Amino acid sequence: MSQSKSEQYADVRKQIAAVIAGESSRTARYATASCLLREMFGNRYFWTGFYLVAEDKPRELVVGPYQGTMGCLRIPFGKGVCGAAAESGETQLVEDVHAFPGHIACDSRSNSEIVVPVFDQDGKLAGVLDVDSTEFGAFDLDDKAGLEAICADLLTID
Ligand code: SME
Repeated sequence: MSQSKSEQYADVRKQIAAVIAGESSRTARYATASCLLREMFGNRYFWTGFYLVAEDKPRELVVGPYQGTMGCLRIPFGKGVCGAAAESGETQLVEDVHAFPGHIACDSRSNSEIVVPVFDQDGKLAGVLDVDSTEFGAFDLDDKAGLEAICADLLTID
């Protein structure tokens, strides 16, 4: 019997939490989440991965672990969908990326996306999770709730 999307998110959230518990490397946590999300959602997720606050430039994001075609390496805060999520600290749900001001087309096949901020245990922005789709309007409030729950766990599970 096929699972609803909310059930899929609850399932993959549990899988990610089980793998990252006790892991001190943030890279390992990000890599696990991008892999298991892509495994769960397959081609519905065209690009799945992280842009992290750069160590050398605090208002710039640098690409982190991801699954998909080659991503841009750096995105300034405030630029494109990822930059808007980093600047505002709020999830960006974009039905048509081509209509989004300043959108950065790393791969022209992406048509919609959702970007969720990731905060560390001190509430400081660590980066953003970016999921792109080749379909327009691929993401909804179930995706938002599911991905926000996973991102809330990522750096806070001991
Ligand atoms: N579309 C993103 C850029 C990152 S990639 O698509 C991998 C944006 O505008 O933030």
